[in-house]
Amino acid sequence: MRIILSDSKEEAVLKVAERVVEKIQSRPASVIGLATGRTMEPLYAAWAKLAQDQKLDQSKCFFFMLDEYIGIGPEHPSSFTTYIKERLLIPNQLREDQFAFPPASALELEAAARAYEQNIKEAQGIDLQLLGIGTNGHIGFNEPGSEVTSRTRRVQLTRETILANGQDFQGTMPTEALSMGIGTILECKELLMLVTGSSKAPVIKYLLNHHDDPNCPATFLKRHPNFTLVLDPAAASKINLKI
Ligand code: F6R
Repeated sequence: MRIILSDSKEEAVLKVAERVVEKIQSRPASVIGLATGRTMEPLYAAWAKLAQDQKLDQSKCFFFMLDEYIGIGPEHPSSFTTYIKERLLIPNQLREDQFAFPPASALELEAAARAYEQNIKEAQGIDLQLLGIGTNGHIGFNEPGSEVTSRTRRVQLTRETILANGQDFQGTMPTEALSMGIGTILECKELLMLVTGSSKAPVIKYLLNHHDDPNCPATFLKRHPNFTLVLDPAAASKINLKI
């Protein structure tokens, strides 16, 4: 695992955006995995600005989303599909056929989840997967207790996640999601995690001090040979890195 400590949240966000743009420049047909959440909002804005400034050609890229709520439908204003359309697809003038959204509304969820995995394989895997982290150590919606070999599947959200994300919903917050598994994420060629804010400082300390711990699924990522963790000062405030 490589850790990048930034001097500010803005710098952390910019470093991640620059890496994404660099990846697309070096491989125009990159397959990129997308995360959502509040942490990622400024990242998508920075990415769109860099892409515009550099006249980046993103027409050959393909994007897979990490997770989606079950039970609300992709058109819901708080669905992750809407989030990505508003923050990435529209600002970058991308096409809908460049995206694969987790089939969380499918009637046959298990078969649809297997087909999603198959789509990733047929795209030759994900070159760069963006990740955030939950305060409970979840990645995607792989909540504590998830298995390291897990694949795209239906998951139950924990009380902590429902409380954290409930503010995005005026009505009832969904309690289930379709999420890529930890096994799926570990097969991505590069993992890039952005973590900002003091609410994430305890989980970052835990992540750095534990390995292969199902209580904190993010610890499984430390097995990956190309995993970069980008932190702002607040997220790094409980760790002590002596250089
Ligand atoms: C969302 C996702 C989640 C979030 C995590 C952090 O696609 O995969 O793992 O990255 O819940 O969310 P924020 O950034 O809102 O704290």
